[in-house]
Amino acid sequence: MKSKLLHISTIGCQMNVYDANQIAGVLAPLGYTGTDTIESADMVIVNTCTIREKAEQKAFSFLGRLAKIKIANPSLIVAVGGCVAQQEGDTIIKRMPHVDLVFGTHAIFRLPEMVRRIESSRCRIVDVRLSDPVDADGPVVGPAADGQVSAFVTIMRGCDNYCTYCVVPHVRGREASRHPDRIIEEIQLRVEQGIREVTLLGQNVNSYGNKEGLCSFAELLARVDDVGGLNRIRFTTSHPKDLSDELIRTFGRLEKLCHHIHLPVQSGDDGILKRMNRKYTRNTYLEKIAGLRAACPDIAITSDVIVGFPGETDRQFQATLDLIETVRYDGLFAFMYSDRPSAPAAAFSGKIDESVKKERLQALLNLQERITMEKHQAMVGRTLQILVEGPSRGLKSDDTESASPPIRWSGRASSNHIIHFDVPQDLLAKKELLTGTFADIMIEGAHAHSLWGRLIRGPKHAAPEEGEKTIAA
Ligand code: 5AD
Ligand code: SF4
Repeated sequence: MKSKLLHISTIGCQMNVYDANQIAGVLAPLGYTGTDTIESADMVIVNTCTIREKAEQKAFSFLGRLAKIKIANPSLIVAVGGCVAQQEGDTIIKRMPHVDLVFGTHAIFRLPEMVRRIESSRCRIVDVRLSDPVDADGPVVGPAADGQVSAFVTIMRGCDNYCTYCVVPHVRGREASRHPDRIIEEIQLRVEQGIREVTLLGQNVNSYGNKEGLCSFAELLARVDDVGGLNRIRFTTSHPKDLSDELIRTFGRLEKLCHHIHLPVQSGDDGILKRMNRKYTRNTYLEKIAGLRAACPDIAITSDVIVGFPGETDRQFQATLDLIETVRYDGLFAFMYSDRPSAPAAAFSGKIDESVKKERLQALLNLQERITMEKHQAMVGRTLQILVEGPSRGLKSDDTESASPPIRWSGRASSNHIIHFDVPQDLLAKKELLTGTFADIMIEGAHAHSLWGRLIRGPKHAAPEEGEKTIAA
């Protein structure tokens, strides 16, 4: 079979990163292998996102650039997938003559058939049916990148929550959970590829399996915990209204479950939460936070917040700042509200000026930066175990004076903090400090956006099968 090159460009959330790997997996039997450069590709797939207006604009501007590339290379196949494809469907094909294929969020397993048809007859296809089964016959796993230690595993798709600002239920369809056996098989395949850490993905993992009568999410976690060769488990995203006591108790009990939860609050004001259709109050949210910290005292907690939701008053925004101050998050993703045409809030009155949204965003980011800085500084002097990821991107060691300066590497702590550290050249020369090993790092320095420390023990080889081997004191 002729080998062909595929470039996938992914915008948006972890779900899209996972889908990109699935796409690579289903197209591999047709002879496609990955390339980083668009110019050398036989097919380019744009994996789009529409969660906020900016992401959608990014997708369209990238597609615009592809028009010029296709003039230079008319045989190039251009395909658009993901949430913008699902939302716009036909419109993309009509407006963009250089696009050959538009496939929706449920069409990944139908891709090989469609690509074959385009290759043989150069037809143009739109498939945005929300009908694909949530599981293929067997798990599809694309290639792991060189040195990849962590991978996403989707456990469910879609969302039934209908938060009023959110487009997801409209572009990803109804919530559907995968069978636990398929999930476990997929994780086992990932472990065989050298993956040590998985992040289980769903829009609301806390309601995993409810609809289908499968096991609960806490039970699924217990099964994943038993997978040999896997060292760490993470998951995202949790909806506070569905965070069960059973799941809270799981933290601190399951050995491999990392001590971190992403628990989006969106607002600290009950009136706004109600109009967002979030189905919890500020108090019930704070009770869950207290429960998590009681079960697992060192748990790191991160969140998402939207500023400038329609009708948000200054007082309501202050309530969000106050909640952030109360919880003291380890990290925060903050977004200015943007209308999504298919989401109900687009029709709400009381739209907030862009300038006010920007001011609120800045105030919130300033507050969180102070909190993060204080929390980072409190970590100085502590020793944390990290899973080593490899050389830090764009970061050089401060020690440039010595003949063979150390090289700066990084890894993640259980709390999800990224920690940089210097690796002596002789350790690297022995090829013992490898991506995918565990190392103990004593934290020596902290900025608001980074932490660094000293390698004091390690590396320990992560996979239990290889035996625990400590080679540097
Ligand atoms: N405007 C701004 N932020 C949004 N999010 C979702 N929809 C919107 C929107 N219309 C944010 C929420 C969600 C995160 C993934 O994106 O905070 O948790
Ligand atoms: Fe969107 Fe709400 Fe579903 Fe999250 S829970 S995907 S914010 S509708």
